[in-house]
Amino acid sequence: MLAEQTRHEVFEASVRTQLEQIEAALRKAAEADSDMVTEAAQHIIAAGGKRFRPLLVVLGSHVGPHADADDVVKAAVVVELTHVASLYHDDVMDEAGIRRGSPSANSRWGNTVAILVGDLLFARASDIVTDLGPEFVRLQARTFSRLVQGQIAETVGPSGVDPLDHYLQVVADKTGSLIATSALFGSKISGASPHLQRVMADFGEQIGVVFQLSDDIIDITSDDTGKTPGTDLREGIPTLPTLLARKSTDPADARLLQLLDCDLHDDGALHEVLDLLRHHRCIDEARNEVRRRAEAARVLLEPLPVGPARDALDDLCTTVVTRTT
Ligand code: IPE
Ligand code: IPE
Ligand code: MG
Ligand code: MG
Repeated sequence: MLAEQTRHEVFEASVRTQLEQIEAALRKAAEADSDMVTEAAQHIIAAGGKRFRPLLVVLGSHVGPHADADDVVKAAVVVELTHVASLYHDDVMDEAGIRRGSPSANSRWGNTVAILVGDLLFARASDIVTDLGPEFVRLQARTFSRLVQGQIAETVGPSGVDPLDHYLQVVADKTGSLIATSALFGSKISGASPHLQRVMADFGEQIGVVFQLSDDIIDITSDDTGKTPGTDLREGIPTLPTLLARKSTDPADARLLQLLDCDLHDDGALHEVLDLLRHHRCIDEARNEVRRRAEAARVLLEPLPVGPARDALDDLCTTVVTRTT
């Protein structure tokens, strides 16, 4: 029992050390030729964030027999830079004023700088991934192409397909893809078997989808996300709670359904719809879906070797649900 506890403590300390190395490497990767560009490129990195994707790389690197520590740091930097680059662009698309509790890059420097700094960070990710070899370069390129197509599909909206199916495909592409690649990168670096690499990629994809579904719930329910609540509503982006609410035939929901069809750039209308949604059963229904999918993701972990990394991945299946409650 004591031995097991010590094993977990040693593991946690090594994960912490690696995450610290990743932090330093991230800042370094965002350095540019001028102070102004460095400041803009490090701005969202310095503002914090959960570092969910780097964590998956690190945990994935414990699935196989051995992992080169430098390669783990590089892979984690590649996926986080790709993520941060997509956030710079996403905040322009979503007209978001706050990110990670700080002013977004677009609100501080304008859309043009935000877009170009996103491009710069993506270029840095592309540079670093070459150190990992052509297989990683291809995976990274395909992942980014899926992510971007997810963002485009969200912008264009469903046409001729069921809106819920369209939304779930968008979520898988814009978010599941990079989280799947994070888990895959870690396991690949550790020399895991092809079967276990597939398990990690599948797990990453599933937990990534659950993660975005939970984020979309807290966009409505929480005032404490480091982002402006109701951004999806204001931008007219349907998410799981609103897609479920729209199925209602209850006359008591008439006002909510009317508002969901309105332009919600007006603060009064946005607050009214947020208030109605926060008390609507669609939130519990969406939470149940998150719980169901998190349990399905947990089952995918069964083939992994027993140990602290698998336990940590298992814990993620719990926290992704509890963050919505
Ligand atoms: C934000 O990603 C966009 C989504 C996929 C929901 P994160 O929720 O991982 O954001 P940070 O990195 O912690 O800020
Ligand atoms: C962001 O999706 C997904 C990507 C950046 C690829 P959202 O627009 O839902 O994320 P937030 O709420 O701004 O973090
Ligand atoms: Mg956004
Ligand atoms: Mg968006």
